[in-house]
Amino acid sequence: MQTHQQVSGKAGIWLRRIGTAAAAGVALVWLGGLLFSSGGQATAEALAAGREMFLHEWQVNEPFGANRDPLVAATGDGLGPVFNAKSCVACHFQAGVGGAGLNKQNVLAFDVVATKTNPKFHAGVVHAASIGDRNQESPSEVNTLFPIVQGEQRRIAGCTITIPDFNPVSFIPINPPALFGSGDVDRISDQAIRGYQRSRQLAIYPQEIRGNFSATPAGRLRVLPGGRVGKFGWKAQFATLDEFVASACAVEIGLSNPKRRQDRPHQQGEDRDSAMDMSADQLFSLTAYTGSLARPLRVLPDDSAGRVAVERGEALFSTVGCADCHTPTLGGVAGMYSDLLLHKLEEDRNGAGGYGRINPDLPIPDDQPLPNEWKTPALWGVADSAPYFHDGASPTLESAILRHGSQAKNVTERFQLLPPADQQAVIRFLKTLRAPQAEPAPQAVELVNR
Ligand code: HEC
Ligand code: HEC
Repeated sequence: MQTHQQVSGKAGIWLRRIGTAAAAGVALVWLGGLLFSSGGQATAEALAAGREMFLHEWQVNEPFGANRDPLVAATGDGLGPVFNAKSCVACHFQAGVGGAGLNKQNVLAFDVVATKTNPKFHAGVVHAASIGDRNQESPSEVNTLFPIVQGEQRRIAGCTITIPDFNPVSFIPINPPALFGSGDVDRISDQAIRGYQRSRQLAIYPQEIRGNFSATPAGRLRVLPGGRVGKFGWKAQFATLDEFVASACAVEIGLSNPKRRQDRPHQQGEDRDSAMDMSADQLFSLTAYTGSLARPLRVLPDDSAGRVAVERGEALFSTVGCADCHTPTLGGVAGMYSDLLLHKLEEDRNGAGGYGRINPDLPIPDDQPLPNEWKTPALWGVADSAPYFHDGASPTLESAILRHGSQAKNVTERFQLLPPADQQAVIRFLKTLRAPQAEPAPQAVELVNR
């Protein structure tokens, strides 16, 4: 099915830029393996078409899709009716095309825990923009759709307990991550992620038998329908790159495609009656291009004292326990620094992981992440992707590290006990994890967004 999981890498033009950087005295070390993977089915034409789609600024009712591809019905409505930006690159541009976004590009997501009247877990996006005023969405309409559940007094085992009101909806700004190396992430097998998770559990178990509970807990797999393991998204909500790209087209830009229709305004779901804005071929090209974005690289300082500090920082990253979750290599992909598992870095506020939002009658099902569970982000390229964390609320690497609590509490304490020079060495190591030499993003890209 996923024939395009192996796409040939975008070889070529950026190598010249790399050559220039190397000549300027910057030591470049590629992260293991081949510079570009090859052997896939995507042709140079498909990658070029995908690049064009990634950069294209969509207009309402424009026949971009139809013109390029006779198989696309000319009835698609182009941009919208609800959308967050007009192009992929509007949100993915830092350090070049495909990079991370700033807080200005955050998407306002929400989730709704199950209640008696709405017994299904729900997640969605409040779109920032619309075609026509009456299509414009707002957070308050989500609150109206999923109202506050009134509290009550209950008698349990002879005692009266008060169950407070609870709001099933929570809004979370979500920061756009960098997409460099996503083709490599796509190729990591489910078995590799399951295997790492099991090995962590096996390593911890004997320690716990001896009464030592200081080890970092193994993360949780996000198992999706069909038993597949989630890899993409801050909640690991998608298993493959093509599913994520299809959803990004539909949700962020309002482009109906064969895998996911655009959202119907105010309904928080797909508009199954909408006509196609893109063909299967175009989706394939866009996915192939996204998967061909070069993987991040390491840029070492050119002075030897700097390199010694980086080496020390890299060693400390493992010894204090960062690498328990940010494992350097997973499924043969070297230098990614993620286990792709869900972890809690914030304490539960009511003992159930729900920020006081858990309905005692309807707990969150096991296959749903808790509100405070997030996938370990890959740290490759992290020096060029600020701000940090799912909500972009941590402006610097230091603040991101110190925000690690709960399951990472012991690791953070060990980090804080390091002498200042060693803490700086860890940061210096993180600063060697750079974006690849990517195509520069068009200059006005930030302005086309909102
Ligand atoms: C309005 C800003 C915005 C636009 C426009 C946008 N994205 Fe994103 N993108 C995001 C955010 C925010 C996330 C993180 C979402 C999440 O994890 O829930 C994301 C995540 C992704 C991911 C998953 C990366 C990973 O490793 O988890 C892919 C792939 C992606 N976007 C591709 C695209 C493509 C292709 C387009 C154009 C069709 C696009 N995006 C347009 C904001 C945007
Ligand atoms: C228990 C697992 C775990 C451990 C241990 C851990 N991290 Fe993380 N790290 C995460 C998760 C999960 C996130 C994302 C949290 C979020 O977005 O809410 C994260 C986020 C980050 C980020 C921000 C990345 C980004 O793209 O936003 C940095 C930087 C980071 N960690 C560095 C470290 C360092 C350095 C250490 C050791 C001192 C460490 N982490 C230990 C799980 C862990």
